[in-house]
Amino acid sequence: MMNSDGPEIIGCRDIDDISAKAAIAVVEIASRAIAEEGTFTIALSGGSTPLALYTRLSTDEYKKRIDWTRTHVFWGDERCVPPDSGESNYKAALETLLSRIEISESRIHRIKGELGEAAAPDYEITIKKVFGIKERELPRFNLILLGMGSDGHMASLFPWTSALSEDKSAVASVHIEKLGSNRITLTHPVINNAKNVILLVSGKNKATALKNVLEGDFDPQRYPAQLLRLAKGNVKWFVDNPALSLPSSR
Ligand code: 6PG
Repeated sequence: MMNSDGPEIIGCRDIDDISAKAAIAVVEIASRAIAEEGTFTIALSGGSTPLALYTRLSTDEYKKRIDWTRTHVFWGDERCVPPDSGESNYKAALETLLSRIEISESRIHRIKGELGEAAAPDYEITIKKVFGIKERELPRFNLILLGMGSDGHMASLFPWTSALSEDKSAVASVHIEKLGSNRITLTHPVINNAKNVILLVSGKNKATALKNVLEGDFDPQRYPAQLLRLAKGNVKWFVDNPALSLPSSR
């Protein structure tokens, strides 16, 4: 279903339906990128919502539909933890997808959370090298996958945090007071520069934030995912019925 004056919202029954529909979209974007550019650059999301999608992409039905020999895998954000931590977004993607497909280690560009704040410049150097861009240029990912928190955050762009005002660097480090957690995140200029952005939103606990993000007054300090209203590329929201449970005021 297309909102006449906003992003494309694809209504789904539940998390499995989100994963099924999003998998088709990811394959389409990958195939087009490789056909047109010879390469596919994807930034994976952290959190739990995308794990069913990653598992689906790793199945025999899907794993051959993306040419992983032409793909570079990044992350939208990472916790400042070692790669073997249960908190690591890298570890979650490794277990559900990357360890189950044929992809060279050299094409997996994890954020080295164990470095703490220093992981941000380290990751930025990696991104610029892989994209072959200069100092002030922004990378243009073929696809950035995101989840959304029940407070309307995306990646690690949390409400009223310093990372929201970072508009020069591609990567920022940020302390999330309410989580007692340090994180590394792509910044909003990079997310909004992507050719495609896919958000996966599941569950009733996201309904209030989703309604405010999609329909509320523009207040990105309060609802950071509203920054996607400035996106240059195609934005698709795959949202299940529980997350859409609040009546739209459109
Ligand atoms: C992270 C994610 C974060 C996540 C949302 C939603 O590192 O946790 O990048 O932005 O996408 O918090 O998380 P769930 O999918 O677990 O609800």
